[in-house]
Amino acid sequence: MSYTRFFEHLCREAYDSVDVHENSSDPIEGWMDEGFGDVIDKIIGENEGFIDACEVGSWLGKSADCIAQRLKGRGRLMCVDSWLGAPEFWTRIGLTDRTRGVALKKKNGYPMIFFDFVKNMKQRGHESIVAPFPLSSQAAAEVLKAYGATFDFIYIDASHEYESVISDIRAYAKLLKPGGCLVGDDYMTNWPGVIKAVDEFANELGVAVEVSGVVWKIKM
Ligand SMILES: C[S@@+](CC[C@H](N)C(=O)[O-])C[C@H]1O[C@@H](n2cnc3c(N)ncnc32)[C@H](O)[C@@H]1O
Repeated sequence: MSYTRFFEHLCREAYDSVDVHENSSDPIEGWMDEGFGDVIDKIIGENEGFIDACEVGSWLGKSADCIAQRLKGRGRLMCVDSWLGAPEFWTRIGLTDRTRGVALKKKNGYPMIFFDFVKNMKQRGHESIVAPFPLSSQAAAEVLKAYGATFDFIYIDASHEYESVISDIRAYAKLLKPGGCLVGDDYMTNWPGVIKAVDEFANELGVAVEVSGVVWKIKM
């Protein structure tokens, strides 16, 4: 199966039986730097032709919606997420935080938030350009490689612990087209693991990290 067929398969499976009675443009809850749209505008502006993008860590779809709005008519977005939450959603105050542990919407102990993501994307008309891929980031990278997927840019915003970030950066950098870029959230002192992983990878490659707000970018 080609990557395109796989993308369409994920879309059909996720959206076909979802009844959406009204469209919505209401803000989606989540975490996204306010300058994120400008960073994506710039990347899209520097690319010609059809754009293949990937997001690792989608949650309810706030950043996915921001990317999809800008890709409409000229690209598509693969969204990788376990939809099981990040470690801090399951520890300390995260467990009882309305926007984290509680927002997972567990049924018999198992998170159901995936279905809110799907509804959010369909309500915004993204059902043919945003493919939800519910798997761990590392396993998904293997699958995407097997389908021959390559991306113009990849946004990394899954687990923010150092080991996870560096593993995601290394695995997804291999899926970039030549001249493509990695982008990520939370390059800030609250998330030292993000800074350490991003700097380490950039140093290894001898390339610069561009930071805008808390959004980091590495061009390959
Ligand atoms: C910070 S949230 C993403 C926020 C989102 N980009 C937004 O705009 O609101 C992190 C997401 O990464 C997912 N995640 C964390 N670790 C993961 C992993 N190892 N594999 C796949 N998804 C993961 C969580 O389920 C969660 O939905």
